[in-house]
Amino acid sequence: MRFSLGVYTCEQTLGFLEKVLTLEREGLPSKFAVEIKSEGTLLGYCGFFHQDVDGTSEIEIGYRLHPDYWNKGLATEAATAARDHAFRDLKLPRVISLIHPENIASRRVAEKIGMALEKHTTFRGFPTNVFSLSREQWLKEHVA
Ligand SMILES: CC(C)(COP(=O)(O)OP(=O)(O)OC[C@H]1O[C@@H](n2cnc3c(N)ncnc32)[C@H](O)[C@@H]1OP(=O)(O)O)[C@@H](O)C(=O)NCCC(=O)NCCS
Repeated sequence: MRFSLGVYTCEQTLGFLEKVLTLEREGLPSKFAVEIKSEGTLLGYCGFFHQDVDGTSEIEIGYRLHPDYWNKGLATEAATAARDHAFRDLKLPRVISLIHPENIASRRVAEKIGMALEKHTTFRGFPTNVFSLSREQWLKEHVA
């Protein structure tokens, strides 16, 4: 929350969920629930945000998990699945992640799924590093 818009009110949370469901209903890339399969426990989300970055439309991979489940590799596992879905199924040309320079955990997840720092910008008033990965780069690693 330190690196984003702060703790949401119930109303803001409902607005967020409504946005997620609207994208889903329209068949556009949206977010997935992240669960521990064996327990059925919901611990967060991972998926796609539609962002305007410096005047360009981008698809961002975003992730947010309950703190009890941090540092177990789960965001990396979820973001890897989202990345592969983006390139293999949705055939997106590229994906990005927008990351506050001090959000080391998020940066590590982006790096572990193969993203590299592209540029620094200001996004919604926050200093922001733009990490990116292109489909071409992904194909090099995933096609024999
Ligand atoms: C970012 C977030 C999703 C990461 O989830 P996670 O399941 O803990 O991520 P992983 O376990 O897959 O990887 C975390 C990596 O960050 C590293 N890390 C975590 N905290 C760190 C810290 N304070 N300093 C340095 N490295 C740190 C871990 O060691 C690990 O890297 P490694 O595999 O090289 O050791 C989680 O911290 C979160 O939900 N944060 C709040 C929401 C958020 O910031 N989302 C991203 C917005 S851009």
